[in-house]
Amino acid sequence: MDPIQPASNIYQWQQRITGGCKGARMRRRRLLATVAITVSILLGITVHGFDGDSHPKQQPSLCQELILPAGYPCSEYTVQTKDGFLLGLQRVSSSSSLRLGDDDGERGPPVLLMHGLFMGGDAWFLNSPEQSLGFILADRGFDVWVGNVRGTRWSHGHVSLLEKHKKFWDWSWQELALYDLAEMINYINSLTNSKLYVVGHSQGTIISFAAFTQPEVVEKVEAAALLSPISYLDHVSAPLVVRMVKMHIDQMILAMGVHQLDFKSEWAASLLVSLCDNRLSCDDMVASITGKNCCFNESRVAFYLDQEPHASSSKNLHHLFQMIRQGTFSKYDYGMLKNLIQYGNFKPPKFDLGRIPKSLPLWMAYGRNDALADITDFQHTLKDLPSTPELVYLENYGHMDFILSIQGKQDLYDPIISFFKSLGKFSSM
Ligand SMILES: *[C@@H]1O[C@H](CO)[C@@H](O)[C@H](O)[C@H]1NC(C)=O
Repeated sequence: MDPIQPASNIYQWQQRITGGCKGARMRRRRLLATVAITVSILLGITVHGFDGDSHPKQQPSLCQELILPAGYPCSEYTVQTKDGFLLGLQRVSSSSSLRLGDDDGERGPPVLLMHGLFMGGDAWFLNSPEQSLGFILADRGFDVWVGNVRGTRWSHGHVSLLEKHKKFWDWSWQELALYDLAEMINYINSLTNSKLYVVGHSQGTIISFAAFTQPEVVEKVEAAALLSPISYLDHVSAPLVVRMVKMHIDQMILAMGVHQLDFKSEWAASLLVSLCDNRLSCDDMVASITGKNCCFNESRVAFYLDQEPHASSSKNLHHLFQMIRQGTFSKYDYGMLKNLIQYGNFKPPKFDLGRIPKSLPLWMAYGRNDALADITDFQHTLKDLPSTPELVYLENYGHMDFILSIQGKQDLYDPIISFFKSLGKFSSM
């Protein structure tokens, strides 16, 4: 894919869209698509944009919704970040491994599960207890902690800001790494008095890599297992994502004053559909965004879509698209002048993977059909890391198979548990 520089204004942006196509009919079609998107976004702003909370407050918690009904003890915690967000954390154990009179000494080592973009902590509990990593780890005696970043349905808002405020959505994965993940690790570490095992998927791996470059965070981590690991994104091949990047949808959404990105809302869903045509089919939307899956339970797809997607911020999408355009793993790019004010440099500082200690044991799994965590980008990540991670390669896996595959247990989750045990830090299980 050609590197694409950000368009600095709407006129340029318009030229990019029309300029890249051959023939007047193509240009007209692209122009029509742009108008359709613009109108649908404007409608969206009127209908959904300013009514604030799209999620009613009196909803069941993640424990109540998915974990307790499956028969697993589960409790809710709230963690406050340095910038005032209130994050939901769930602690799950196995009914058989936990005795009455619940004593922390009886629990296995803490493991924190970090979900991906547009997902929440529910991601680890979407299949049957025998197939879902969250339940499997609990059954094997781990003290399972389920992370949820700001903006998801399982986080609890902010000490002073409301979801309808622009400032509530003024963050990208940079804050998810340096505030949300850092604070969750800190909290679990001080509560359990133990180093943590971390498992991440997709954006959960981006924020893990970024957080692990920080000495005060990584010193509390025993080891990490990363599914679909991402730090560089410039070889993303998912057709719908590539098209959105080329059309500068991220800048357009921000320019129109849309700060919360919720694909459960009507306008955002119609935005996606309006990007499809006869060359890019929307028949399998998940595949056009994440790559072809091998191992979904087809009869559960409606249930998956009931839970997902969770909301994120438009600024986060823009930051991710900056990585695709620029081939960098850096902080948010505000543009030269504001970068100078923010960072004291024209360019945003890089997250240096070379700073992740060689002594941190890493396990990673990647797939041939993963259209987001591309193999070329993954090799770039490996080259930058001082350590040599243990690797699992799955020929037929797409991006979402890593958490939804019905064969996940034998392909991934048993190997993760063996890896954690092989480090010899705990013996009782
Ligand atoms: C797929 O999901 C359905 C509905 O939840 C379930 O009854 C079935 O056992 C699942 N199949 C597999 C192979 O896990």
